[in-house]
Amino acid sequence: MLHTLSAVADRWIARRVSPEPEALAAVEGLTPTVIITGGSRGIGRAIAGEFARAGRAVFLIAREPGPVEAAALEIARTTGVRAVPLALDVTLPDAPQRIDAALAEAGLYADVLVNNAGVGLSGVFVDQPGAGIEDLIALNITATSRLMHHALPPMLARGRGGILNVASLGGLVPGPYQAAYYASKAYLVSLTEAVAFEARGRGVRITAVAPGPVDTRFHRAMHADDALYRTVLPSQGAEAVARSAYRGFMLGRRLIVPGLVPTVAAVSVKLLPHALTVPIVGTLLGTRTPPGAPK
Ligand SMILES: NC(=O)c1ccc[n+]([C@@H]2O[C@H](COP(=O)([O-])OP(=O)(O)OC[C@H]3O[C@@H](n4cnc5c(N)ncnc54)[C@H](OP(=O)(O)O)[C@@H]3O)[C@@H](O)[C@H]2O)c1
Repeated sequence: MLHTLSAVADRWIARRVSPEPEALAAVEGLTPTVIITGGSRGIGRAIAGEFARAGRAVFLIAREPGPVEAAALEIARTTGVRAVPLALDVTLPDAPQRIDAALAEAGLYADVLVNNAGVGLSGVFVDQPGAGIEDLIALNITATSRLMHHALPPMLARGRGGILNVASLGGLVPGPYQAAYYASKAYLVSLTEAVAFEARGRGVRITAVAPGPVDTRFHRAMHADDALYRTVLPSQGAEAVARSAYRGFMLGRRLIVPGLVPTVAAVSVKLLPHALTVPIVGTLLGTRTPPGAPK
């Protein structure tokens, strides 16, 4: 069923396509692959599994070599597709060139980019170390934009491919106590929807997925495990989010909110005024750890 619907979506997405022969010739003999940043665990690992089960070669990127190599091995063993790991910090200014070099060496080219690697930051904005905010912007905003800006032109020239940006439900509303994180995801949602409009009909899917809370290491890493949202809001599994993201991407949707509760939340934040939603979100995101206490 998904296959039929995505073939229909293909026709609509490619309604204005005229592929450039040189762009097609440049990838002749190479295998189209799905690049997933942050593919070693969590949501990225689960999205890699979805593409691999659909028979797509995957190229996983994360900083730590051990986990990303193990994830690639496991995907190759369980699905039979090619899964190539690359240990790389995607915030490096020359990350796109390093990725291109590794792809070329493996006989692959970027057909789909999943911009998934991201970092959170919890607490009062003015108490955050400046370096933490800059690291967050470097990954969630600068690196994702740079990779997308680098990958998109050849996709448009070929008239096929796609970008799947992993944003967050937090990108739809300001988030006191995770202010910079929510703002970074708002940037990503806005960028994705705007660029998707610019590229409409040219054969390339451009999608943002905006999950609510997902059970991964993410929350503990930013010391948010004792925030109210961790107990009162239901968390989804990474696999369920990945299934929803993959399906929505194949159907050519521009913004996907996986799951019923996050969908209701997304509609509510669109309908209600910020005067109401911002204090509610702030109550959910505030941690019980007093400022300055060891976490
Ligand atoms: N968990 C949630 O509730 C939730 C909800 C909405 C949206 N999201 C978004 O979903 C995405 C994935 O989150 P997750 O929950 O799966 O997080 P996670 O479990 O912490 O995984 C993060 C992944 O990104 C990689 N990574 C981090 N920094 C990197 C860098 N500079 N360069 C390359 N790889 C890097 C990590 O591997 P290394 O550490 O080895 O680099 C890991 O593979 C993020 O963009 C996050 O904002 C998460």
